[in-house]
Amino acid sequence: MSDLVLHLDNIQKSFGGLSALSDVNLHVEEGTTHAIIGPNGAGKSTLLNVCIGRLKPDSGHVTFKGQELTGREPHEIAQMGVARVFQTPEIFPEMTLLENVMLPAFSKRDGAFKLNAYSGLAQQGDIRDEAEHILEDVGLADQMLQEAGSLSRGDKRRLELGMCLILRPRLLLLDEPTAGMSRHDTNRTIDLLKKIKSRGMTKVIIEHDMHVVFSLADKVSVLARGEIIAGGKPEDVRENPKVKEAYLGGAH
Ligand SMILES: Nc1ncnc2c1ncn2[C@@H]1O[C@H](COP(=O)(O)OP(=O)(O)OP(=O)(O)O)[C@@H](O)[C@H]1O
Ligand SMILES: [Mg+2]
Repeated sequence: MSDLVLHLDNIQKSFGGLSALSDVNLHVEEGTTHAIIGPNGAGKSTLLNVCIGRLKPDSGHVTFKGQELTGREPHEIAQMGVARVFQTPEIFPEMTLLENVMLPAFSKRDGAFKLNAYSGLAQQGDIRDEAEHILEDVGLADQMLQEAGSLSRGDKRRLELGMCLILRPRLLLLDEPTAGMSRHDTNRTIDLLKKIKSRGMTKVIIEHDMHVVFSLADKVSVLARGEIIAGGKPEDVRENPKVKEAYLGGAH
């Protein structure tokens, strides 16, 4: 089982009377890109929130490299090497792009409480060099001294990806990383994610854009009304009648 990075076992999560996830089983293999697709409200973001500890499942287990994640706090899970790009970018708008990318590296190294001294951030050579490289990778090097709040929505998402990459996660979870991006920016993001893959990072990507899914995914799982209704290689899933029906019956 050592080639399994992420393992979801009978995950159940309700909000009041609404069953957002029922009996979800998912296996993500080392080094692969695993896409989760499904109509609006299917439970995709809920599933990611369960993986990173923002939500506790009502029942079931999440394991990462054989270690139990269920019940752990988000910061513990992050320390274990699981990073996530959120559906709505979570950046620091009044800080520069460079500071935004450096900050997670500091909190990993020093703990969150020393960060009030962040005015000295730009002097930290090693982390700064790495942050600059990452900003080049995500295509934002030219703007590194601008305030992050001035970026377009698409650029904010790429910045957030950079903030994850500096942590060198073993598993990266991405919630619609290309939402709000132009086709050109989407293609740049696909190239970037391919580059990360070649470095062996495992990724789980939630995505509505089928162009992105078919460009990147090794495996696809389809979630509809809180249940995995199909899974397999992208080309097989695309032809699955249950999947077609879920999409036609849903908001897409
Ligand atoms: N904190 C919450 N409290 C109550 N209901 C919630 C909460 N979070 C999600 N839900 C509900 O759970 C269901 C699944 O939501 P979720 O956000 O996981 O869907 P999604 O597949 O990510 O949708 P989208 O494609 O729109 O992002 C929806 O019906 C949603 O309204
Ligand atoms: Mg969502």
